[in-house]
Amino acid sequence: MDKLVVKGPSRIEGEVTISKAKNAYLPILAGAILAEDEVIFSEVPNLRDIRTMNNLLTHLGTVIEEKKAGEFSYFLNELKTHEAPYDLVKTMRASICVLGPLLARFKKARVSLPGGCAIGTRPIDLHLKNLEKMGAEITIEGGYVEAKTDRLKGAHLTLDFPSVGATENLMMAATLANGTTVIENAALEPEVTDLGHFLQRMGAKIEGLDSKTITIHGVEKLNGCHFTAIGDRIEAATYIISGLMTNSQIKVKGFNPIHLDAVIEKLEQMGAKLERGEDFVEVFPSKIVGGEIDTAPYPGFPTDVQAQMVALATQAEGTSIITEHIFENRFMHVPELQRMGANITIKGNSAIVKGGASLKGAPVMCTDLRASAALVLAGFCAEGETHVQRVYHLDRGYEKIGEKFAGLGATIERVKE
Ligand code: UD1
Repeated sequence: MDKLVVKGPSRIEGEVTISKAKNAYLPILAGAILAEDEVIFSEVPNLRDIRTMNNLLTHLGTVIEEKKAGEFSYFLNELKTHEAPYDLVKTMRASICVLGPLLARFKKARVSLPGGCAIGTRPIDLHLKNLEKMGAEITIEGGYVEAKTDRLKGAHLTLDFPSVGATENLMMAATLANGTTVIENAALEPEVTDLGHFLQRMGAKIEGLDSKTITIHGVEKLNGCHFTAIGDRIEAATYIISGLMTNSQIKVKGFNPIHLDAVIEKLEQMGAKLERGEDFVEVFPSKIVGGEIDTAPYPGFPTDVQAQMVALATQAEGTSIITEHIFENRFMHVPELQRMGANITIKGNSAIVKGGASLKGAPVMCTDLRASAALVLAGFCAEGETHVQRVYHLDRGYEKIGEKFAGLGATIERVKE
């Protein structure tokens, strides 16, 4: 198993280009199930989660071909099986995204329940309840969701919570349903809108993207298209925060800063000197003071940037209170940061972080993608070597993280254990 060895304290400089968004591509790749022709994607990031989705799609019968570096074609002509097996689903919750497309196009699906995961129980009740409203017959047996239908029908759906995954699954299911589906209290995340744009490109009739009410008029079939997803706002936020933690000047480019409004605003309140362009944010050396951060659904502060903010807060002047409202148990980075010398107290779903800690390098390990990123960032500020073990968590969602930070001048090395 590989680990990342980070030597601190580190200064970084230069430019880094952000990859296309994993969380946009995962549902979009699943959405390729809906098309009756070949779909081509460009700049697909080389990530473990993407490979897991590809394995699942191949298992279902999709033929995936690499046309040139980063460009792939997907074509599902004949379904080999309608089952998404436990072994594939357990490693990646986003596998549930195949449920809606399978039901819509092939009228049946058998998808393993994702089960618990490191950041909480993460149920899929909103997906299932609303697919039932669209006419799916759903049973749960032996750890699998069994779903079938003659044809999904349009329905008026109201989500109890604006779940990203449920909005995406239902939107995909509705594209081929008979009649019109309205999703109220839909998630507003940019990745949901990007999926909507992809579906529109395939011929889906969707109105209200970027709003809380999305309307989908079902069509008979969807065609192929060529699509490239948006830049990864969470990866971008991680690099911006790394610049602030190391008091450096760096340019983070290849994404839409509007997608990071909440993060940029909060960082500026905390003293960050940032300049934003159309597709970049430049970070300048800044004196960071503590702040209060509350995660919330988009356009609020993203839960996927919470761990990185905890790392930043350890280096701020004064105290920060960081409250997690989306996922239970999403503070696995805290005990590891404490081992590096951070002063953090957990109270309920809040982390109270006393800034100004002098961190010391240590062997650390996390069971969650963003938590692991927070440890790399802390490693840049720590005296000595930080060994971030189980790099495969980072490989799920950060393309070439070692190379990208090394390109910015950090001392970071991937080592086989
Ligand atoms: C997606 C992102 C993830 C991000 C999260 C919140 C992908 C692949 N993953 O995850 O990185 O952290 O959005 O922005 O895009 N919930 C229910 N019932 C459901 C569905 C969700 O109770 O049927 C709850 C969850 O347990 C959680 C909350 O709703 O507490 C948010 O989950 P959701 O928005 O669905 O997140 P994901 O789509 O799983």
